[in-house]
Amino acid sequence: MCGIVGYVGPHPALGFLLEGLHRLEYRGYDSAGVALLDGGRIDVRRKTGRVSQVEELCRLDPPVGTTGIGHTRWATHGVPSDINAHPHTGGDGEVVLVHNGVIENYTSLRSQLISQGYTFHSATDTEVVAHLVAAQLKREIKLGGKASDPQTCLRAVETAVSQLKGTFGLAVLFRDAPGLLIAARLGSPLVIGVGKDEFFLASDASPLVGHTERVVYLKDHEIAVITAKDFEIVHRETGSQTPDVRILEQTSQDTELGEFEHYMLKEIFEQPQTVENALRGRLDEEEATARFGGLNLDPQMLRGIDRIILTACGTSWHAGLVGEYLIEEFARIPVEVEYASELRYRNPPLSDRTMIFAITQSGETADTLAAMRECKRKGHPTLAICNVVGSSIAREADGGIYLHAGPEIGVASTKAFTAQVTVLTLLALFLGRMRHLSYPAGKRIIGHLQAMPDNLRQALKCNEAVKKLAEKYYQAETFLYLGRLYNFPVALEGALKLKEISYIHAEGYPAAEMKHGPIALVDEETPSVFVVPKCNIYPKVISNMEEIKARRGPIIAIACDGDDKVAELADDVIYVPDVDEYLQPLVTAIPLQLLAYHVAKLRGCNVDRPRNLAKSVTVE
Ligand code: AGP
Ligand code: GLU
Repeated sequence: MCGIVGYVGPHPALGFLLEGLHRLEYRGYDSAGVALLDGGRIDVRRKTGRVSQVEELCRLDPPVGTTGIGHTRWATHGVPSDINAHPHTGGDGEVVLVHNGVIENYTSLRSQLISQGYTFHSATDTEVVAHLVAAQLKREIKLGGKASDPQTCLRAVETAVSQLKGTFGLAVLFRDAPGLLIAARLGSPLVIGVGKDEFFLASDASPLVGHTERVVYLKDHEIAVITAKDFEIVHRETGSQTPDVRILEQTSQDTELGEFEHYMLKEIFEQPQTVENALRGRLDEEEATARFGGLNLDPQMLRGIDRIILTACGTSWHAGLVGEYLIEEFARIPVEVEYASELRYRNPPLSDRTMIFAITQSGETADTLAAMRECKRKGHPTLAICNVVGSSIAREADGGIYLHAGPEIGVASTKAFTAQVTVLTLLALFLGRMRHLSYPAGKRIIGHLQAMPDNLRQALKCNEAVKKLAEKYYQAETFLYLGRLYNFPVALEGALKLKEISYIHAEGYPAAEMKHGPIALVDEETPSVFVVPKCNIYPKVISNMEEIKARRGPIIAIACDGDDKVAELADDVIYVPDVDEYLQPLVTAIPLQLLAYHVAKLRGCNVDRPRNLAKSVTVE
């Protein structure tokens, strides 16, 4: 994870670096730091905690320079501390760099470097890279290179990174090469912003918004040599590359809080709009199906698919579970939902007609990317359902479907989940209509989808009621979340939301499975949240509620408007619009997102920046 920024140009770099780090802070917030290069000296400011603390350091003692780098950390090696904060210095200060990723062979490299006389100060894997680049630079200079020559510095980085095992996004400054910034990538994202006589660097495009619209995504094994005049991209095997300059579509409004107190709340309330965006242009009423621009697969092949694997992590994995139910019901294609972290190392038998979908908000999740690559290597068509345009997964997939949900800043995913479920519904409709799904059934689904944004607007009206509920229960130590069929993944998602932002223990379970173990947790202090809108097996879920009631467990129910029966049994009921069963996850997710939000707020937790988490998990 972690966020990296860089700047080279005619202006003082500090302003862009700090502003950029604020925008990237969702990626990691254990510590932060900047380094500025000015006239043969590199000035470093770094500190444990938030970017604002480094900002304060810089206010008291401003570093100067028109070339600089910055970092906000999500620690993998070494506790969050001032010493472990990036930037890290190599040699006697001739190299300073920031790093995103994990160096797997850092122990052996560290021993080698210590035996060569290098002194280590931190417990990070990153410091090894700093000393390694410094060592290679020394070697290049011995061979006749000049410390101020960008090509000498490039060679030093090239030879250093060729010795690394693991993943890295690197931004490197050289004390004796004024106006030079070198960036290198393997596995961790980096994007270059191309301005007029100035260049920007960042882990994702958000810091570039408002500075330039022209961007180049660095690919794996590429190294960028950036000066204020120009930049060059070199592939470690194939040499100099023609940069693929793209236009950025994001606006600064997308990343502003507006009237909301937190990004998470803003994003929850955006859902009627984001679901509408996910549907826009994709409903084909005439053919009663969905259409997608970027699947890049011919209809013959799509018709021949005999199995689908949906792979993802976290919330995206929960969306995948909803997708499994939808695709199996509408298209009758067997679906498996695999944790990407497992799939990447497993070897499940896959036929020639198996299709893989990677589901991801960020498009940068290391496990999802690795699982996708593994399937691609075996020759399977591999597609992405992804939010971030131009992200690694979006670029490497054979084709895919964008969510169009706009930037999701809150670490707890909300609008991406409902956008993913919407896209998976469209996919199920599309695949279904290629097979057994009838024209009237297709028409009906389209009608229901068109009504969804209004249903979500209606569902959001529960906010005040949910707030009161949170006031009643926020001190509980354990919550159970229970649901069946389409609402089982919603129960999992509700529990994940609560634990990640309020640090309360929560378990999501299929409602009937609860009696095989978790029921032992039930007592008068442990609320059970039942997701129980009207469905085929509604009476069965009611029986499950009775079982909890009999053990004096408090019951919170998420039910359909007008359901009086549930009200008789539950201690508290939150009502959502009555929609068809297969679309219920979209409306029932909303009160659960709001419940997690209000509980976390009442417990004084940092809603948008929960402890130990980061928005995109770019390490294994
Ligand atoms: C969601 O609230 C989480 N923070 C997390 O589980 C997330 O969904 C997961 O890391 C996957 O991320 P992705 O969708 O960007 O791949
Ligand atoms: N592995 C490095 C560290 O622990 C970088 C982690 C990150 O990507 O933030 O400092």
